Amino acid sequence: MPTKLEIKDLCKGFTSLRSEQSLPVFSGLELRVAENEFICIVGPSGCGKTTFLRILDGLIPFDSGEILLDGQRVIKPGIDKGFVFQDSSLLPWRTVVDNIILGLELHGTPRREARARARHYVELVGLRGFENHYPYELSGGMQQRVNLARALIIEPQVLLMDEPFASLDAQTREIMQLELLKTWGGTRKTVLFVTHQIEEAVYLADRVVVFSSRPATIKAEIPIELTRPRPLAVKRSPQFLAYIDRIWSMIEAEVRRSMLEQPGAEV
Ligand SMILES: Nc1ncnc2c1ncn2[C@@H]1O[C@H](COP(=O)(O)OP(=O)(O)O)[C@@H](O)[C@H]1O
Ligand SMILES: [Mg+2]
Repeated sequence: MPTKLEIKDLCKGFTSLRSEQSLPVFSGLELRVAENEFICIVGPSGCGKTTFLRILDGLIPFDSGEILLDGQRVIKPGIDKGFVFQDSSLLPWRTVVDNIILGLELHGTPRREARARARHYVELVGLRGFENHYPYELSGGMQQRVNLARALIIEPQVLLMDEPFASLDAQTREIMQLELLKTWGGTRKTVLFVTHQIEEAVYLADRVVVFSSRPATIKAEIPIELTRPRPLAVKRSPQFLAYIDRIWSMIEAEVRRSMLEQPGAEV
């Protein structure tokens, strides 16, 4: 598969108010993502996962290194990238369909045309019949479907998802994972999906990337060789559980390390 996204020697620090020093989040991070690949990123809390996605989206600057999307430097947010945030970021005064077309409208597509295009995506994420509902009338799972449709409708080259199911209850979350894979099967976007749930990562990914604690480097990359389509029952297979064990033992040390680095923490 050709390379879709390439991250070379990425360095980024944040200046702390207390010390006025720049503390590194990444120093020399390298990652290569193939076209159509579904990558899940796991790692201890605070290691820089959200920062990484925001940098990839062009939302925040980085200090040095290079990010290439289709061989071009990533410099600013644009319709080549779709972002799905952890919490629903829907506009409460807009209906489902008008939330979905927001990005298209911002990029100058006339509303009529945008609405016509939205029909396909409403269908794809299973929201038919809810087009004219308002966000407050939807469950958390449905709101995240709207967010997904909103990211997909701009037909991005790469989809960046930051713990999109974290605020859903366990059952809804499982259904959404299954639905996401179905949707992805129909579009085959390149996806970078951040989660702190190892199980979610193994279920979704072609490859799980494990970040170390801050400053984050890539501790391991584990190809997931479970056949697709993946029914939810795959989560009970010995092969699946073996992946979970393997990845968990890898990040356990990192989680402990990051906990110990917090003052007063006891592990
Ligand atoms: N705007 C910011 N200014 C200073 N520090 C920040 C800023 N954003 C994030 N950080 C710090 O960078 C680190 C990584 O944060 P984040 O990317 O949110 O981690 P994760 O998503 O893995 O939990 C954390 O230590 C966080 O406190
Ligand atoms: Mg985060």
